[in-house]
Formats: sequence, structure tokens, C-alpha cells
Amino acid sequence: MSKQYDVVVIGAGPAGYVAAIRAAQHGLKTACIDEWKNKDGKNAFGGTCLNAGCIPSKALLESSELYHRAHHEFAKHGIKAGNIELDLGALQKRRAGIVRQLTNGIAGLFKANKVDGLVGHGKLLADRKVEFTPVDGKAEVIEAENVIVATGSTPIELPFAKFDHEKIVDSWDALEFDEVPKRLGIIGAGVIGLELGSVWRRLGAEVTIIEAMHDFLFMADREIASVAGKDFKKQGLDIRLGAKLTKATAGKNGVKVEYEDKGIPESLEVDKLVVAVGRRPFTDGLFAEDSGIQLDERGFIVVDDECRTRVKNVFAIGDCVRGPMLAHKGSEEGVMAADLIAGEIAEMNYDVIPSVIYTAPEIAWVGKTEAEVKESGREYKTGSFPFAASGRAKAMEQTTGLVKVVAAVDDDEILGVHIVGPMAGELIGEAVLAMEFSASTEDIQRTIHAHPSLSEAVHEAALAADKKALNYPNK
Ligand code: FAD
Ligand code: NAI
Repeated sequence: MSKQYDVVVIGAGPAGYVAAIRAAQHGLKTACIDEWKNKDGKNAFGGTCLNAGCIPSKALLESSELYHRAHHEFAKHGIKAGNIELDLGALQKRRAGIVRQLTNGIAGLFKANKVDGLVGHGKLLADRKVEFTPVDGKAEVIEAENVIVATGSTPIELPFAKFDHEKIVDSWDALEFDEVPKRLGIIGAGVIGLELGSVWRRLGAEVTIIEAMHDFLFMADREIASVAGKDFKKQGLDIRLGAKLTKATAGKNGVKVEYEDKGIPESLEVDKLVVAVGRRPFTDGLFAEDSGIQLDERGFIVVDDECRTRVKNVFAIGDCVRGPMLAHKGSEEGVMAADLIAGEIAEMNYDVIPSVIYTAPEIAWVGKTEAEVKESGREYKTGSFPFAASGRAKAMEQTTGLVKVVAAVDDDEILGVHIVGPMAGELIGEAVLAMEFSASTEDIQRTIHAHPSLSEAVHEAALAADKKALNYPNK
């Protein structure tokens, strides 16, 4: 007889593994299938996020930022550090160690929660049957009351700049370079381009980023993007906007990059080229022809607001469905799907999902940009506070940036919060919570913030929305 489960999850990235744990916490018999294999040939749970995304990139961002600060900032603090040298081998070993600890941690969490972690390929058949092919094993069919598909995404490959994974590389390859490239080209000034560009720039590479859009960070608030763009330029990131890649050719000495800059053909020679032009949903080899699952024109699995596919009791969550490709968005969808399966009421608030770009300065936002609010026609007010006026930011020697609050005039509700500056990714948490509770600027104004802290900048920006800022002149 085939194995039977209440819930089978396909994919153990942040969407799938969280869904599996929550389902098991509900007392449901749960299995989670994953086929991820790392570059050392070993399988690991955690998906893109833990193995080749969020976690390794943040490890490198932290190390490279410390290296940069040791070079450029220590002297200001009166610290003579002598001869600072980079040991890239040790830096990369630390990155790999963090990844290993966290991915092993998921295996431990599966055990503790009684989730069967199955290593191999999953394929959805008709009638909620799942074909599971273990690594080096024979396929078997598992029966499930409910299936959650969480197969994630993969980098988009451009036909005229195909990955050879040596010189023309994807973001995963670029996290594992064993040498600092002298000249690094990046296609796409999106989140990956900026984070990885920052890492390798700080470690010594000359970095040129080719970006098709004319507006820098088009999805961010204009004021925030402008401050960030100027600072990245000062750091030596050469970001060419309105420039579209037309061809990349790998040769003996590097990569010839051909692009059109505002319609004029240009070219560039680099040692390595990272292509980071977005990701596509990954559903290769996932569905039997009669599975009944529908994909949209871009390959995303079609789901409703509750992440239900059109097949009864089959859910899909995370990067393989519509919405931002963010780990925390996938995890929360996983919790929702598992709770719904357990018969609970659950929903996602898609309007309040924070975005963070872990550059220095960091960039973070939640809700609508000022332009979006303006476009909606609702009367609004804004309040800003610069980190240059924050005692804590001065002590940290990190005074670039600001907090900006956008709120409604009629009922004072906070509609968006935008931050560029130190620890923006942590500060945004307060704004997310406020917006989740439909808070007003007055709610933040009346909340006591510790002194001296960066969070005072959020407080002051909320005060400034009503021209009540205390530590900066009101406009
Ligand atoms: P994934 O993490 O992609 O996991 C899917 C899993 O399913 C994989 O393990 C895959 O092997 C497995 N799988 C697929 N098909 C099958 C099958 N048929 N059978 C068995 N297993 C299968 N997001 C953030 O929120 N913050 C960040 O800081 C951040 N940094 C990033 C940095 C980089 C360089 C990259 C590339 C991405 C980053 N992201 C970040 C995005 C984040 O990694 C994704 O949004 C997140 O991993 C999506 O989770 P997921 O579970 O949907 O899919
Ligand atoms: P992205 O969508 O953020 O950026 C891709 C950029 O490439 C865009 O600005 C686009 O205009 C540009 N582009 C596309 N085609 C081009 C061409 N031919 N020539 C020049 N430029 C071109 O995608 P990215 O950076 O690849 O990241 C993928 C996803 O991973 C993101 O959507 C993000 O959600 C997630 N991610 C999240 C992180 C975080 O939360 N901190 C960090 C890294 C990735």
C-alpha cells in the first residue's frame, strides 16, 4: 500500500518548510519533499533562501561591510588598525558555515515537529497523488489529503547572455567566487545587483551595473531612491541607467558586454558578468499532464487570495505564485495554507509586506510610495527626519538617509513608511506593526521611543507629518 499523509509539501524553501512545520503543529501527518543540491553535491533543506539567497548574501554583506569600515571608518574613531588584509577563503568559509548550520537546523526542526523530510523529486499527479523519486532511488506514489506546492523560483536566463557559470554567472555563482574579480559587470540594478554589487565593490572590484530602466530603483519612493543612488555613486558603484544589454560574449580574457545606452551602442570588457534580471517561477518536471494545475502566461501557478489552486485541496505558495518574491511573504503564505487546511480562519495582508535592500545605507519600505498615494487621489501629508539629526546615527558614524512617513489627511492613517539609512531593515518592523494595526501618525507620535536610538527617527518623522517634530525644523 502506498504511503498516506494528511499534507504533502513539495519544496522545503522558506515557504514550504514553514508550511510543513505549521501543518504538523496542527497534528496533521505531514511530509516535505525537497531536491535541492548544493555545489558540494550535498542535499540540503532551506531552498534558495538559505542555500543561495537571503542568508549567504547577508553573511557576505556583513563581512564586506566590516572590511570596508575597517579601511575607511576606523581612523575616524581613533582606531589604528595597521595592515588590514582580506582573507577571502576565511570569509567564504564563514558564509558556508552559517548556511550549513541553518539548513541542518531545518532537518532538526522537521524531526522535532514530526515532519517526514523526504529528499528527492516530487511530481504532482491527478487526485492529489504525488510521485516521489528519492535521490538514487525508485519512484513511489504517495497519497495526500492535501498538497502544498512551494517549488520556488530560479534566475531568468537571457538568450543572448547564457550562463556558463564561469564568466557569465548567476547570483548563486556570484555568492561563491573564490577570488575578487578585478572588473565585475552586473546586468540589472535590482535588489540582487545592488546587494552583490556592494559586496564585491567593498572587497575591491570595479563594479559596473547596466540597468534598462531610466529611473533608479523604480519600485521605491523617489526621495529614498535618490538619496540611495547618490550614496552608491560615492561608493564607486558605476550604475548606468537606461542601458539595455544586447549581447554578452565570454572569451579567454573575460566577457565582452554589448549594450545600448539610451539607444546608442556601447560596449564594456569585464572579468565576470553577473546576470541578475529577475527570477522566474520554477515548475520544471512538477506537474503530470492531468494534474489539473493552471499556469499563467509568465509561468506562475494560478491561485486565489488564499493560495488555493483550481484543484481542490491543492495549494501553491511562495515564489512560484503571484506577489513579491520574498522569503517572508512565502513563509506567511505557508502558515495561512496550513491553518486553512486545519480548518482555521486565516488570511494574508498583501498590502503590508516589508521590502528591504541590505546595502549600506539599507533601504526599507512598507505600504505605498508618495507617488502611489498621489496617484490614488487621496489627500495626504508627509513627514521626514534625516539621520544627520539623530544622536545615535552620529555615534554610529552612519548619518546618511532619512525616514519618511506618508499618511492620509482625513483620518491620519499611515499609508507608507520609507527608510534609507542605518538598520532600515530593523526599523521598518515598527512601521509594519503600526500599519498592520491601521495605526495613525498620532499613535506613533504618542509612543515612547528609547533615547538615543535610531527608532527616534521614525517617531520624529511621524511628528513631522503634523509639523510637530522636536529635533528638526518643521517644513
Ligand atoms: P525556494 O526558496 O526557491 O525553495 C524552493 C525549493 O523547492 C528548493 O529547495 C527547490 O530545490 C525545491 N523544489 C523545486 N521543485 C521541486 C520538486 N519538483 N521536487 C522537490 N523539490 C523541489 N528574500 C528575502 O525576503 N530577503 C532577502 O534578503 C533575500 N535575499 C535574496 C538574495 C538572493 C541572492 C536571492 C537569489 C534571493 C533572495 N531573496 C530574498 C528571495 C528569496 O530567496 C525567495 O523569495 C525565497 O527563497 C522563496 O521561497 P520559496 O520557498 O518560495 O522557494
Ligand atoms: P529585480 O527584479 O529586483 O531586478 C532586475 C533588474 O534588471 C530590473 O531593475 C530590470 O529593469 C533590470 N533588467 C531586466 N532586463 C534587463 C536587460 N536586458 N538589461 C539591463 N537591465 C535589465 O530582480 P533580481 O535583482 O534578479 O532579484 C530577483 C528577486 O529576488 C527580486 O524580485 C527580489 O524579490 C528577490 N531578492 C530579494 C532580496 C531582498 O529582499 N533583500 C535580495 C535579493 C533578491
